[in-house]
Amino acid sequence: MAGTGPQRPTAGGIDEPQPRPEKGSRFSDEAIAELNEIVSHYPERRAAMLPALWIAQREYGGYLPPQALQEVADRLQRPYAEVEGVASFYTMYNFRPRGIHHLEVCTCLTCACIGAYDVMHKLEELLDIEPGQTTKDGEFTLTEVECLDWCGAATVIQVGDRYYGNVTAANVGKLIDDLRKEPAHTPVDLADAITKVQLSGEATSQSIRKV
Ligand code: FES
Repeated sequence: MAGTGPQRPTAGGIDEPQPRPEKGSRFSDEAIAELNEIVSHYPERRAAMLPALWIAQREYGGYLPPQALQEVADRLQRPYAEVEGVASFYTMYNFRPRGIHHLEVCTCLTCACIGAYDVMHKLEELLDIEPGQTTKDGEFTLTEVECLDWCGAATVIQVGDRYYGNVTAANVGKLIDDLRKEPAHTPVDLADAITKVQLSGEATSQSIRKV
């Protein structure tokens, strides 16, 4: 289905990095202090790569442009390619701006057998976008992902730090309606929350919901 939102990028989607940039810095003083505190808990700077990327994702507005990867590389004294390699391994790091609600639809084996592609096609119809695209109003980004490790509740959709199970083509419209009514839970909020959980050592506050 043709989307009316931003066109699918020709050189990668939200999960593919862009060309290497010039050096620069956008970390605030607080972010630098935060990173230094995290680094102090590890025997070497490179071990703080994942939290450093979360901080960068927050400081750069919810995604990791090339400048953000370069800044992490500089601050951890690691090669750019190493930082890019780590960031591109994990789907929670975004390489393009994305919507307020990031719908990550599992289309792995169990979910696919139960009807994940029916759910995906219904979402494409409701939102008028394809996987990898964001709606014109910037509210939803749609992504196809591998197993979310809750196969017993197939089909599963992850939205930020929440899992929704037993999603079907018939009930996914209700999920969209519910999300539209919720306060914005932006990529910046999420990156900030996860960084703070790591700093405080508290358990991750992931919640699971049934549609
Ligand atoms: S196959 Fe979808 S959660 Fe495992």
